[in-house]
Amino acid sequence: MIKDSQARIVHKESWKDYYLFSLESSKIANKAQPGQFIMVRVTSEPYPLLRRPLSIHSKDGNHIEIFFQIAGLGTSLLSDKTTDDALDILGPLGKGFGIGQNLKGKEAVLVGGGRGIAPLYFLARQLRSLKSSAKIFYGGKTLDDLPLKEKLETNGFETYCSTDDGSFGYKGFVSDLLKAELDRLTPAFLFACGPEPMMKKISEMARVKNIPAEFSLESFMGCGFGACWGCVKRIKKGDEEEWIKICEEGPVFSGEEIIWQEEK
Ligand SMILES: Cc1cc2nc3c(=O)[nH]c(=O)nc-3n(C[C@H](O)[C@H](O)[C@H](O)COP(=O)(O)OP(=O)(O)OC[C@H]3O[C@@H](n4cnc5c(N)ncnc54)[C@H](O)[C@@H]3O)c2cc1C
Ligand code: FES
Repeated sequence: MIKDSQARIVHKESWKDYYLFSLESSKIANKAQPGQFIMVRVTSEPYPLLRRPLSIHSKDGNHIEIFFQIAGLGTSLLSDKTTDDALDILGPLGKGFGIGQNLKGKEAVLVGGGRGIAPLYFLARQLRSLKSSAKIFYGGKTLDDLPLKEKLETNGFETYCSTDDGSFGYKGFVSDLLKAELDRLTPAFLFACGPEPMMKKISEMARVKNIPAEFSLESFMGCGFGACWGCVKRIKKGDEEEWIKICEEGPVFSGEEIIWQEEK
């Protein structure tokens, strides 16, 4: 884990309540893998004290990108930062997606719901470097929740969009769009990040079709590196269940390991 208290924002873009920052942080960029995250200090003031976890959206040379949606005070304060401000960050943290040579030349489907698209762009680029084709499913409540649509397309990724209200693409949940396309696409691997009900449905589809799948989970995180026990979750390990810390053992888990919440 590297602490960089001078990660300079070299580029900022925004779309309503979504933000993309490019940060100069050579040591973290050097080690970052898709699915890993950083912990960001959102202010130099004493409150809020706790850093916020954000996925590494991509890396290029000495830079990493983060892409986030305003969810509360922390992300709102972060959104006020401007080019040339320096952020205090820790990373890269956690275990990322288990991409390996077994995916070489194969087709993978990546499903991002809302801000859950954040870690998948980095993954898609990594898959491309393995000569694996990544098709991206990107869902949001409305068109405003798909700010990265053009970026994905411009970078040559086949992108399938959905909106709950039908303002763009398929009308309905991205998991329903995936279900409709899954017979035709027959991917060798599925990866997803987004709201838990979305990932739960995708996990079930993957199980039925016998497609290995990995999911990036969210949790409240106090430290991000195993010290505070703020992110514990019960998961399956073979026939047993055990408590793990999402920040250390995850945030990425296979579908078989996750004990999904019952829907209320
Ligand atoms: C490993 C990891 C990677 C993440 N990557 C990204 C990313 O790339 N982009 C992005 O936009 N967000 C990401 N998140 C979520 C992000 O960390 C939270 O939105 C952020 O911490 C909220 O902080 P806040 O101070 O703005 O909001 P708060 O004021 O703390 O909370 C606002 C609302 O969000 C809920 N909330 C807060 N934190 C979480 C959480 N971790 N999970 C579920 N609900 C939460 C609260 O219940 C509340 O309703 C990630 C979370 C994790 C654990
Ligand atoms: S966030 Fe502190 S132990 Fe996981």
